[in-house]
Amino acid sequence: MELLLTEIDHVAIAVHDLDAAITWYADVFGATVEHREVVESDGVAEALLRVADSYVQLLTPTRDDSPVAKYLATRGEGLHHVGYRVADCAQALEAVKAAGGRVIDQSPRPGSRGTTVAFVHPKTSFGTLIELVQDNGPQH
Ligand code: CO
Repeated sequence: MELLLTEIDHVAIAVHDLDAAITWYADVFGATVEHREVVESDGVAEALLRVADSYVQLLTPTRDDSPVAKYLATRGEGLHHVGYRVADCAQALEAVKAAGGRVIDQSPRPGSRGTTVAFVHPKTSFGTLIELVQDNGPQH
C-alpha cells in the first residue's frame, strides 16, 4: 500500500522552562530556534529547532488547564508526542479511523506555522500520542 508518512516532522518534548531548554539545546548541540509560537487554542508556547528536515519542538504550557500542563503535572518533563509529516492530513486521519482507531481530532485543524494537523489517541497508537502534520509550505 501507499506510504502515508513522508517524514518525521517533529519530536515534541514537554518542558517546564522553555527558555532554559532552548539555551541547553543551543549550548550543547548548537541547535537554534527557527520558529516560536504561542498556540492559544492548545494553551502552549513552542519553539521549533531545526534538525535536517525535521524539528525538535519544545513545548511548555501557557495556562494551568492546558493539556500540556496536565501532562507535566502527572508525568513530568519528557517526550510528549511525535509529529509525522503527511501529504494529506485528512487522508491519513481517515486511514486511522478506517482501521478502527481512536482519534482526538475528528477532522483536521490548523496547527503551528501554518500547518494542518490532527492528533491520534495514544491508546490506538501503542502509547505514543501521534500528530499528523500536513506542511502547507512557507507561511512567513
Ligand atoms: Co506537535
